[in-house]
Amino acid sequence: MKQLLLFVLLMAFCGQSLIAQEKKIWNETQEEKEQRMAWWTEARFGMFIHWGLYAQAARHEWVKKRERISDEEYQKYFEMFNPDLFDPTDWAKKAKAAGMKYAVITSKHHEGFNMFASEYTDYNIMNTPYGKDIIKEWVEAFRDEGLGVGFYYSLIDWHHPEYTIDRIHPQSAGTQEEYNELNKDRDMGVYREYLKNQVREILTNYGKIDILWLDYSFPGQFGKDHEDWGSIELLKMVRELQPEILVNDRADVKDYWGGWDFTTPEQFKVQKWPEENGVRIPWETCQTFSGSWGYYRDEHTWKDKKQLLVLLIESVSKGGNLLLNVGPTARGTFDHRADKALVEMGEWMKFNSRSVYGCTQAPDEFVAPDNTLLTYNPLTNRLYVHLLDYPMKNFLMKDFGDKVKYAQFLHDASEIQIGKPYGHWIKQETGENDINLLLPVNKPNIEIPVVELFLN
Ligand code: GLC
Repeated sequence: MKQLLLFVLLMAFCGQSLIAQEKKIWNETQEEKEQRMAWWTEARFGMFIHWGLYAQAARHEWVKKRERISDEEYQKYFEMFNPDLFDPTDWAKKAKAAGMKYAVITSKHHEGFNMFASEYTDYNIMNTPYGKDIIKEWVEAFRDEGLGVGFYYSLIDWHHPEYTIDRIHPQSAGTQEEYNELNKDRDMGVYREYLKNQVREILTNYGKIDILWLDYSFPGQFGKDHEDWGSIELLKMVRELQPEILVNDRADVKDYWGGWDFTTPEQFKVQKWPEENGVRIPWETCQTFSGSWGYYRDEHTWKDKKQLLVLLIESVSKGGNLLLNVGPTARGTFDHRADKALVEMGEWMKFNSRSVYGCTQAPDEFVAPDNTLLTYNPLTNRLYVHLLDYPMKNFLMKDFGDKVKYAQFLHDASEIQIGKPYGHWIKQETGENDINLLLPVNKPNIEIPVVELFLN
């Protein structure tokens, strides 16, 4: 019986790996993939920008769905959109000062409106009072500041007349009969073509694009999956148009080699480095300053400085990236609370970015002391201990004795003396290979101080 089970399992496993090899969108080795993604892995920190007509409603980018607003009612936002204070260079400088290395902007969100000039619909920025291609202006400004540029493009579309009504559509229904009735004159085939044409446009008209962020699939009853989007053909085209581009994992082609490059835990802190079939995979968590992605005037759950820094450091400590979102106003400016948060992150990054850029999860032999997060730079062989809760003078590091050559604070390069645990109490708790860092009693003037350890 046991043997039979083993046999079945083995066959299933062989079958799986065969599929994995056969199902290919893109011919590339694992090594080539890592090289293609190297700049992004090194960068660790990017800016997400959710901007569209919904900024005027100022009550979530899903407002059309949440309030079941009809196209006719929503039209007023299209007719009024005129962000007269939009200054993309200012945005780019703010992102850069915060320590971000790349940015991803919504070229179209679920509402279906294009922030770019498109041949395939009138429902685009050129026909609003603003009348200029926001995406073009944005790409140029961000690129000029040396930032990587990426496009979010919503697979979902709540405006296109051929897009079939589904369970998350503003006009969602209840029964199969109701859906049949609602969709009798709609043809997803036409939308599929439209979607492909639009992705071709954004990947053709603006030069080299570093990231494509497709959003999102929701398979199952009254849902949509890769067949609705034509994801395989779509991804093939994407790879041909922009061979260097990085693509997220929301087009529902996770079982295809080349169908995605990184996974995207949303508003979620992972417990550990995400894996697929036991192998660690590239990941990026996307997070908001407050609960909404689009500008939300009356939403007040803004994360504080420390929470934001921990989001970043913790991501790196588990081998991942952070894409932190700003929802600009309909005038084209950042909310003052976003500005403040960006400045605060920048202040920390100015002195501590060495523990972020090019860093990753520490090797298993290093166990993080209580209330700390570890990151590690494999090239310089330095370990970074982030002190989340500043200790009092003695800072015991268990089993670090033979591993550490020198210790300093990262922010001011001041030496931290390494002692042996001494005294009655501490000795009872320590072993031969433990060390004691002699920290100043007063916490340095840094939100989260970092100890830089030069390893043997
Ligand atoms: C979701 C939401 C959306 C947001 C995105 C960011 O899928 O629909 O509004 O753009 O996630 O990750």
